[in-house]
Amino acid sequence: MTPIIRIIEAKDHVGEVVTVRGWIKRRTGKGKINFLRVRDGSGIFQAVAFRPNLGDEKFTQVKRLTTESSVMLTGLIKADDRAPGVPGGYEMDLQDIEIVQIADDYPITPKEHGVEFLLDNRHLWLRSDRQWAIARVRATVIRAIRDWLDDHGYLLVDTPILTPAAGEGTTTLFEIDYHGVPAFLAQTGQLYNEADIFAFGKVYCFGPTFRAEKSKTRRHLQEFWMVEPEIAFCKLEELLEIEEQFVSYIVQTTLERCADELKLLGRDVTLLENVKPPFPRITYDEAVAMVNEAAARGVTVPPNDDSVPAIEWGDDFGSPHETFIASQFDRPVHVTHYPTRVKAFYMEPEPERPEVCRSTDMLAPEGYGEIIGGSERMSDPELLLAAIEKHKLPQDAYDWYIDLRRYGSVPHSGFGLGVERAVAWISGISHLREAIAFPRVLGRLTP
Ligand code: 4AD
Ligand code: MG
Repeated sequence: MTPIIRIIEAKDHVGEVVTVRGWIKRRTGKGKINFLRVRDGSGIFQAVAFRPNLGDEKFTQVKRLTTESSVMLTGLIKADDRAPGVPGGYEMDLQDIEIVQIADDYPITPKEHGVEFLLDNRHLWLRSDRQWAIARVRATVIRAIRDWLDDHGYLLVDTPILTPAAGEGTTTLFEIDYHGVPAFLAQTGQLYNEADIFAFGKVYCFGPTFRAEKSKTRRHLQEFWMVEPEIAFCKLEELLEIEEQFVSYIVQTTLERCADELKLLGRDVTLLENVKPPFPRITYDEAVAMVNEAAARGVTVPPNDDSVPAIEWGDDFGSPHETFIASQFDRPVHVTHYPTRVKAFYMEPEPERPEVCRSTDMLAPEGYGEIIGGSERMSDPELLLAAIEKHKLPQDAYDWYIDLRRYGSVPHSGFGLGVERAVAWISGISHLREAIAFPRVLGRLTP
């Protein structure tokens, strides 16, 4: 029996005869030579079928191979710097072939397909090189997230998906029927994280979150993954440092581990190499001044050359604003102290100036917008009660949350990083729909 290997392991088997199990991406060549571009999930390489080596009968088998046919290929691994593939540099001289299935008329072809067609065929589209590379970047980002938090003393504590009340504003709630009682899919795990820190000090939750976003944009999904660290005895200033250490580690680790994938995606990694602390910090007030100065000059921003509109103090930034602000820096920027009225009920107001709160958004460069939202939390029970009333939230659903401030309340802070936003930014892809295997975008539930 020849050893079975994965393409990624080819480098360790040069000069050996091995078997690779996978799928045919493309067959080319004519006469007595055929080139098979083969993928097996771990990598992509080329197998060369040379008739005099294979014999007539096996060569005839090779010529039956269509795109996505499944095969077991046996042959000699050779090293050749010019050999195409991912990671590249290795190919197989075919000696034997076993066809598992011949695929007929695979619907995704090298021609350009429309996005709706590709999304309808997402179950197949995932096999394409770019989608493969993005999925690997995503898995690497997630591993880096977990490693950093686990190594820095954060305890993973899972938070519920079925919840009785809003965590992040009532306009984007998905309501479901919980045995006759209305319930909501979690928009965030934060409120539960806040209970968990009083038991465990530093925690994080990491899971899918749900927002019934009513508009279709490239930055919004209905279901997205969020990692949310929460820290006891932590004020806003310390939170900013934690965020930038965390994001830098994720970016630098992904650059290191996914060099091949990022190359395949055509990502200009020089734009990511300087993502290292410290990140610039500006306040909302300063950001508003920057925006209004740009608006007066008629500045436009990519991708559609939208002009940067002027903004009134007190309003939330839109996408062109965020793109413009971030474009002024060579790494992500912290924008702190937003107006209290545009932020969630739980944010600590600035004591000397309660119309702004101790919030922070991290804006990524290159038009990727907000990747992190975070804040210092209200720690005074009376203030919190008033905020809940002011936001017209049902107080009894938050009793337990107010309780946290009654028994050993401490200043505490936390943030949430949207995984798809981070993956899209690091991968350099323009739309969040490619940053998750089965995206839930407005108006789509299948596959
Ligand atoms: O700013 P947000 O709403 O913050 C929270 O949910 C806090 N509870 C987090 C915390 O402090 N623990 O969302 C956090 C991040 C955003 O910065 C963005 O990256 C991502 O979640 N996000 C979305 N990603 C994709 N689709 C959507 N509809 C998103 N909404 C937010
Ligand atoms: Mg936010």
